[in-house]
Amino acid sequence: MRVRRVDQRTSVGSVALRAPVLTASGTAGHGTELGAYLDLAELGAVVVKSLAAEPWPGNPAPRVHPTPAGMLNSVGLQGPGVDAWRRQDLPALVERGATVVASIWGRSVAEYAAAARLLAGAEGVVAVEVNVSCPNLEDRSRMFAHSASATAEAVSAAVEASGLPCWAKLSPNVPDLVEIAGAALTAGAEALVLVNTVLGMAIDPARRRYRLGSGPSGGGLSGPAIRSVAVRAVHDCRAAFPTAGIVGVGGVCRGVDAAELLVAGADAVEVGTATFADPRAPAVVLHQLVRWCRRHRVAAVRDLVGAVHADRPVIPAPRAARTATTTSSPTASSMAAATQTPPPAGAASSPAGTASSPAGTAVPAASAPGVRPGEPATTGTGASVDGDLVVRLKEALDTIDRRVAVQAEHMARLNAALAALTAALSAPEPGEPPP
Ligand SMILES: Cc1cc2nc3c(=O)[nH]c(=O)nc-3n(C[C@H](O)[C@H](O)[C@H](O)COP(=O)(O)O)c2cc1C
Repeated sequence: MRVRRVDQRTSVGSVALRAPVLTASGTAGHGTELGAYLDLAELGAVVVKSLAAEPWPGNPAPRVHPTPAGMLNSVGLQGPGVDAWRRQDLPALVERGATVVASIWGRSVAEYAAAARLLAGAEGVVAVEVNVSCPNLEDRSRMFAHSASATAEAVSAAVEASGLPCWAKLSPNVPDLVEIAGAALTAGAEALVLVNTVLGMAIDPARRRYRLGSGPSGGGLSGPAIRSVAVRAVHDCRAAFPTAGIVGVGGVCRGVDAAELLVAGADAVEVGTATFADPRAPAVVLHQLVRWCRRHRVAAVRDLVGAVHADRPVIPAPRAARTATTTSSPTASSMAAATQTPPPAGAASSPAGTASSPAGTAVPAASAPGVRPGEPATTGTGASVDGDLVVRLKEALDTIDRRVAVQAEHMARLNAALAALTAALSAPEPGEPPP
């Protein structure tokens, strides 16, 4: 199967997005700053820098410091406040056709509620990202994000006050992220945004001084250095919450990085630090992801979501898949559907192992982690799930055959070398009588 057009659409909770790549809060400004470099309307959404109800000055300089595989920042949530942002920045974003996600922060539950309330009814804002990586003044300045109950309180306040879908942006700096994520979802978050920066610090040994203006408070590490942290967070939360919306963020610089997070379980990804190296980065990542999908014969980006969780047979290498004799290629959702656990008792089961929805559409059973309820169980190519499974098994066997052939060749060469060595060792020394 040749994929000409890749379906880029995705959804995060109840929010439908035209593409799976978004900007990451704090790395794309408050408004149309990136509009000079890319088409904001092409992205899934523009997530603006976190806003409080009131203006906030942020931290003293220096606020950023490069690290070997990313950067440290201590910008400190500088912003104009929600009201001013709605007047000064939001209209231009809407004018440009951008889908807007507003990020909010606060130092108390009341401050989260106040910021969220100011966003209620904001034209063009499709969701509120609740950044809980903020000191909680009511809890000895312990981060909201480091406590399940404080995270739940902040999220619940935002959900109630904004009336908009809320996404909880969580910190990876906790021993049990799944517990905090569960608390956020129970409190009403439709989605998890994983992850914020990793706590870090840089010190200039010659001057015996902190490198960031925030001093002993340190900063947040971002960029490729934290990609595997994000992948793990997305993976573990998708395994725990098969139907939650999940946005992956951390070190995405290329299309293949985005694909990795999608396969781990993200419905969409955000691009942050890469934007400092190239302001076109979110668009570049999106274009590369689409090319990657075409190359790997993925017709719809959503077919990648959570694919690693599907319990499935050996995956042949791309080269083997390309040389396959068939014209149809299995997709992640088809593989998941083909191998999912049986539908719950009482659900009608079809030959392909799918449960039937009331409308009669085939939907995967909710217990299959790689498949989301309501998604079609077909491959999108018209091929049946059973047929796809056979194709995959054939490809896997072909791969094994080729590997066995290569091994056999190596063995033959080894045997020839051994024979030559044996002959050389048993040859008579000059002057010695033949054996
Ligand atoms: C300079 C800078 C400012 C940031 N500001 C915010 C912010 O205001 N709110 C927020 O939720 N995350 C903020 N972040 C975190 C990013 O949104 C993102 O979660 C993190 O950097 C990991 O993604 P990346 O590796 O692609 O940058 C900021 C990151 C950087 C580098």
